[in-house]
Amino acid sequence: MSTEKKIERLRELRAKSLQPDNQRAVQRQHDAGKLTARERVEVLLDDGSFQEIDPFVQHHETNFGINEKRPLGDAVVTGWGAVDGRNVFVFAEDFTRFGGSLGAVVADKICKVMDLAMDTGTPIIGLKDSGGARIQEGVLGLDGYGRIFERNVRASGVIPQISVIMGPCAGGAVYSPALTDFIYQVEGTSHLFITGPDVIKAVTGEEVSMDGLGGAHAHSSQSGVTHFVAEDDRHALEEVRYLLSFLPLNNMEVPPFFTPLDAPNRMDEALTTVVPDSSNQPYDVLDVIHSLVDDGEFYEVHEHFAGNMVVGLARLDGYTVGIVANQPAVLAGTLDINASVKAARFVRFCDAFNIPIVTLVDVPGFLPGVDQEHGGIIRHGAKLLYAYSEATVPRISVIMRKAYGGAYLVMNSRAVRADVVFAWPSAEIAVMGAQGAVNVIHRRELADAEDPEARRAELVADYESTFNTPYIAAEHGLVDDVIEPRETRPRLIRALEILRNKREQLPPKKHGNIPL
Ligand code: HXC
Repeated sequence: MSTEKKIERLRELRAKSLQPDNQRAVQRQHDAGKLTARERVEVLLDDGSFQEIDPFVQHHETNFGINEKRPLGDAVVTGWGAVDGRNVFVFAEDFTRFGGSLGAVVADKICKVMDLAMDTGTPIIGLKDSGGARIQEGVLGLDGYGRIFERNVRASGVIPQISVIMGPCAGGAVYSPALTDFIYQVEGTSHLFITGPDVIKAVTGEEVSMDGLGGAHAHSSQSGVTHFVAEDDRHALEEVRYLLSFLPLNNMEVPPFFTPLDAPNRMDEALTTVVPDSSNQPYDVLDVIHSLVDDGEFYEVHEHFAGNMVVGLARLDGYTVGIVANQPAVLAGTLDINASVKAARFVRFCDAFNIPIVTLVDVPGFLPGVDQEHGGIIRHGAKLLYAYSEATVPRISVIMRKAYGGAYLVMNSRAVRADVVFAWPSAEIAVMGAQGAVNVIHRRELADAEDPEARRAELVADYESTFNTPYIAAEHGLVDDVIEPRETRPRLIRALEILRNKREQLPPKKHGNIPL
């Protein structure tokens, strides 16, 4: 055969591999409001940048009825391309072929891009839309998932891993996204669960819809499995592009720098009054965050989960920072199980990927309650303490108001090696609030007092003026400086600048034993 003929054959094969082989399935996909795997890849990546690999892979013949159908590329599209000019690897499960199910060669293709991503220090994005392990391939599908899971774990903390759930993702298959750094879910069309509604009904009698069980709302607000909710496929993919703008390509790099429009010395008078005079009155910490960061731009992670803790990505003078903030507007900003786990995971992500952490503190303590105690707040709260204590990235705290007891320590205190701690004049750093403290230390005096209520009010006022200030902490160097709220942005930026070359090593060990 002449070379020309051979090239012609290649072109035919390539065209065939790009052809949807099941037009009806493509139509079903579109009717459901979903894009096809190839369309998704095109939306995700910069125009014309996609470099596909393994387009000619076909499944091995099985004993179980799929031999007559061996589409080129099988049920996943893999390769690399650029997002805003920076490379990423991608795999997109193709629901129009065998329901996107995962057999041996689908797993091989995914493992290949995962290995390349690891070898080259490049993020990997998985677009998930699959009926799970390919039934006809039996244990080979299961083994394929196992190989992917193991790679997810190996890649954890080395390259950013992002999962976008755009269709079904059920059974053990959920553990691949669960092992990645961020999960997006598309509203209405994506479902994640270990066991579906029918099995649940048969086993426990509970009745629940697919959406109620594993939809975007359920997982973003109830279980906390999902970090971001998108309206549709396009929205999800655009959001992934945005997320990547904050992240380095791997753990050996720093995040990209964006020249800010915002001046580093900008002060904000509005911060002077953001904390109400009455210390029990709530306010929205998002107002503070928006005021501090470049151009008010904050990408909140886990927005719908554990609202008493706010975490997300932003920039200060062009450099990415992770923000962790108590939210006084929800549960008075107390730390509970979900808030602790949410913040701990985010702190560890930032630490793994060289993202400095700014912590905004206004925490009255841990949330009291039998359900919290029996739910394991001791073990879960310890996760946040652990995450902060082992984080070697620059860590700065701003104590805005309350910082009481154990919660003060957990929220990136000096004791757990915060690099710089600022406090506003409204800061209250103490073992506990005034009422509680007076009841304990003046119990006898109050019992004997002629007018206990009047005496209590005096003692509370005394306690407040002595203890509920930042100055005792500042006297002992536990706060580095007491600053005016309006100057917080410039002070943070100057502190981050000096900390940019921070080098801290943990003692050599195989790994720690975080209280899981
Ligand atoms: C082979 C599959 C498949 C699978 C779907 N298909 N799932 N083929 N293996 N796991 C095929 C269907 O036969 C059909 O082929 C096409 O994909 C589209 O599926 P439909 O059922 O027509 O689509 P829809 O009505 O949208 O329903 C989607 C679905 C359903 C809810 C995902 O297909 C389903 O319940 N599939 C089985 C899910 C499952 O139990 N998987 C195993 C999970 S356990 P045709 O030729 O008709 O178009 C698992 C273990 C992982 O994954 C373990 C890791 C440790």
